[in-house]
Amino acid sequence: MKITFYGHACLGIQISDIHILVDPFISGNEKASNIDIESIKADYILLTHAHQDHILDVEAIAKRTDAVIVSNYEIVVHYQNLGFKGHPMNHGGSWNFDFGKVKYVNAIHTSSFPDGKYGGQPGGFVIQAEKNIYIAGDTALTYDMKLIGEQFNLDLAILPIGDNFTMGIEDAIMASDFVECNKVLGYHFDTFGYIEINHEEAKQQFIDKNKDLMLLKIGDSIDL
Ligand code: NI
Ligand code: MN
Repeated sequence: MKITFYGHACLGIQISDIHILVDPFISGNEKASNIDIESIKADYILLTHAHQDHILDVEAIAKRTDAVIVSNYEIVVHYQNLGFKGHPMNHGGSWNFDFGKVKYVNAIHTSSFPDGKYGGQPGGFVIQAEKNIYIAGDTALTYDMKLIGEQFNLDLAILPIGDNFTMGIEDAIMASDFVECNKVLGYHFDTFGYIEINHEEAKQQFIDKNKDLMLLKIGDSIDL
């Protein structure tokens, strides 16, 4: 499994020859100007919620790639009505896709489209494939994360760390305890002034708890 960070909360996940894109917000992210959305492959686009900083490039990429959009019911119906392919889910539900099993899990946040239309309830994803990963989405720290620790053996937890709109570093450290995974990829930081973080301090706070916080440069990848 290869995971590429496209900035903000956008991830590319490659499992064998299948490409999954999560929460594409690239063309509106000045910090991601090195990424060309025309070059991004996507067989599936997973969306945690409907906020603009998670869906901005969905239509452009799905139009070119014919990707299947996977999200909550309301978001998927929104895109199906525009002619896109979709697979609706809702909280607590799992589905076996051709790349692995996906569970749509709880997140504490909000979810409206940029025009104010209802975007269902926000969520995160647990993907069980070659490796098991948790993509938290935009969320507060919540005790629901303990269920993920009890139900899955995670290889990686991808957690928001930018504070203000989501968890900050201290809560992300507690979240990593709840999901029982000490290997964390941080996301949802630095994009806007509200969520700028000190990288070295953040990493040290994780080290102090015997945990590993990875912060990727935009465009960089890790192999799990
Ligand atoms: Ni959001
Ligand atoms: Mn967000």
